[in-house]
Amino acid sequence: MTGDMSPIDKAKFAAACRAADMVENGMRVGLGTGSTAAWMVRRLGERVKQEGLRIKGVPTSTRTAQLARELGIEVVSLDQAGWLDLTIDGADEFDGELNLIKGGGGAHLQEKIVATASDQMIVIADAGKEVETLGAFPLPVEVIPFGWQTTRTLIQEALDTMDVLGNSAALRMNGEAPFVTDVGNHILDLHLQRIGNARQLALVLNQVPGVVENGLFIDICDKVVIGHGDGRVELRDINDGTLELDQLVEGGENLFSDLAD
Ligand code: 5RP
Repeated sequence: MTGDMSPIDKAKFAAACRAADMVENGMRVGLGTGSTAAWMVRRLGERVKQEGLRIKGVPTSTRTAQLARELGIEVVSLDQAGWLDLTIDGADEFDGELNLIKGGGGAHLQEKIVATASDQMIVIADAGKEVETLGAFPLPVEVIPFGWQTTRTLIQEALDTMDVLGNSAALRMNGEAPFVTDVGNHILDLHLQRIGNARQLALVLNQVPGVVENGLFIDICDKVVIGHGDGRVELRDINDGTLELDQLVEGGENLFSDLAD
């Protein structure tokens, strides 16, 4: 099985395991969405079974909730948890200040709420997600279905005044029909190529009527765990300015030998 994993998947797995191993007994943990976050949830499930780890997980999507439950992780809502010790989630892009683009999986609204309600957010990503300037990855913006085309026009007018290199806004599709988020909204993917001032753009987008939330995470992420295809991981802490280097298992392949699917 391990031979079937691409270097990117191995990198995601390495980052996910390193972060999951930072979770401690009794923690209330935000569980992100996406393929990297799914590895993290699997690793937590393994720790629950093997070590008797006791945590309460707050999933950021119905997909993650289902996976967590299947793995025996106790799932509670954000309101039941109240406040979280830690959220671990993937990202589509991160820059040197750990500002992020998220929402490639369509869950950035819940992800932002959950991460903001946490003492700490740790992003897990393969090394290819690091960029100097955000914006090559299309920026997801969640909009309510009512009048979404008008909302799109207003967004494009706002973009014309921003430091970006494009203003096309594509309605995300799921086959022939518009993609629908867990809470019943649509997503516009903004093809901006380069975002000169992400902080300003995040504020401006959220002022457009019909916009529910954009996928820019500014000053929310505290640490990033960057995985590499050979099992090496880097842990960067933006608050302490520290960098740790790690190799989860020497000899590489053992790291991936417990993958069941
Ligand atoms: C979901 C997200 C994901 O974290 C992001 O898309 C990264 O996904 P993956 O780990 O599959 O590369 O923001 O809304």
